[in-house]
Amino acid sequence: MTFKTIIEPFKIHSVAPIAMTTEKERNRFIEEAGFNLFSLHSDNVLIDLLTDSGTGAMSRNQWAAIQHGDESYAGSPSWLLFKDAVQNLFPYKHVIPTHQGRAAEKILFTAIGGAGKSIPSNTHFDTTRANIEYSGAEAVDLVIPEGKDPSSLHPFKGNMDLAALEKFILSTGVENIPLVMMTITNNSGGGQPVSLENLKGVSAICKKYSLPFFLDACRFAENAWFIREREAGQSQRDVVEIVREIAGLADGMTMSAKKDPLGNIGGWLALNDDALAEICRNLLILTEGFPTYGGLAGRDLEALAVGLTEVVSHDYLKYRIQSTAYLGNALVKGGMPCVLPIGGHAVYIDAKALLPHIDPLNYPGQSLAIELYKVGGIRGCEIGTVMFGRKPDGSEVPAAMELVRLAIPRRTYTQSHIDYVIEVCLEVVKNAKNLRGYRISHEPAALRHFTSTFSPL
Ligand code: F0G
Repeated sequence: MTFKTIIEPFKIHSVAPIAMTTEKERNRFIEEAGFNLFSLHSDNVLIDLLTDSGTGAMSRNQWAAIQHGDESYAGSPSWLLFKDAVQNLFPYKHVIPTHQGRAAEKILFTAIGGAGKSIPSNTHFDTTRANIEYSGAEAVDLVIPEGKDPSSLHPFKGNMDLAALEKFILSTGVENIPLVMMTITNNSGGGQPVSLENLKGVSAICKKYSLPFFLDACRFAENAWFIREREAGQSQRDVVEIVREIAGLADGMTMSAKKDPLGNIGGWLALNDDALAEICRNLLILTEGFPTYGGLAGRDLEALAVGLTEVVSHDYLKYRIQSTAYLGNALVKGGMPCVLPIGGHAVYIDAKALLPHIDPLNYPGQSLAIELYKVGGIRGCEIGTVMFGRKPDGSEVPAAMELVRLAIPRRTYTQSHIDYVIEVCLEVVKNAKNLRGYRISHEPAALRHFTSTFSPL
């Protein structure tokens, strides 16, 4: 007998309180925060879906590993446990630990970026793009057209447009492309997976032109699970086997260990190229630390080594992907338009479709995110014109999509928390036509979504 209820494959071992607030109090908190959800005190948030990064719960085995951590400056046994756990899944020759993903990106693009260079990807995550551009290079997104259509049901909307990639390589010149990247899953494109077939296609093109191929693999286990579930011939394979095959298609990777490695902090850069690894290690010593701990304490390295064994559990991944879909499908059924199919780590609400009466330059995503907080204390994140609308030349243009991301921290909330989120969202749907836009009252010079303040219209 199989039952349809997917239970959390864990029991709660330690708890953190959620402070209850009233709608009246939240109206005051959000006004005091200048209507910017990043400025809220997190104690005043009931269900925090701002990010799945570093916000997950560690297991008792991870906490036990924390106690086992060895803080030797060089050659700690915790480092060897970490390195073995990484290489068990991603057998690259060199592993370079960093304090989080963007530090790995900064080191890699300092080493290989620079003016005149171009780096294609399916879709670069913001910090990846920012680090590439900071080096003087150009970041280019070449996701398939279905990846930009919120309602397309393509099973692998994170795929690279292979024809566009080859055309790009020919027009840009191999000498100007230090490497090709793939983000798995594609966070900026709705948490959508990339197929094994597409990864093989990218790998083959890279081999044909002798270009290195790197993965931004933050959500590698979720991506591998989607491959197992959706791709022909994959359903009987162990996720570990799929992950190793993906790793073998590439020459290296950047990683935020705050996602699938189930850590609260951490990251790494891994690669095969000896000469590039030496340059990167020297940069690591300048900015992160000695190569056997990078930006991390020995105890963090141990917690990550355990997390890497837990995240590839089929029971965990089945629960993870189905519980995100449970939220997304209930919202869609209740009339909340979402990016389809539902992604791995988050549900992306299509605020443009829900609030067509709000002009993109009055920030429908921001308006919806604020309403979710006011009504139910839920904190999501606008991914739309507030985040992407200000161009380097100072002009403001609407973003391609107006989304609100509800990211699900790993192993943190129960089904009743999620049922509450569904109830709040559907209440907001009922009142959608009464929502109003916002204008920005104060805007910083860069990365305005973090610190701008807003006023309601
Ligand atoms: N790459 C991807 C695909 C990411 O989603 C992130 C972080 C990074 C790189 C950078 O890693 O935060 O450890 O420096 N994403 C978080 C998010 C912040 O909320 O999606 P980091």
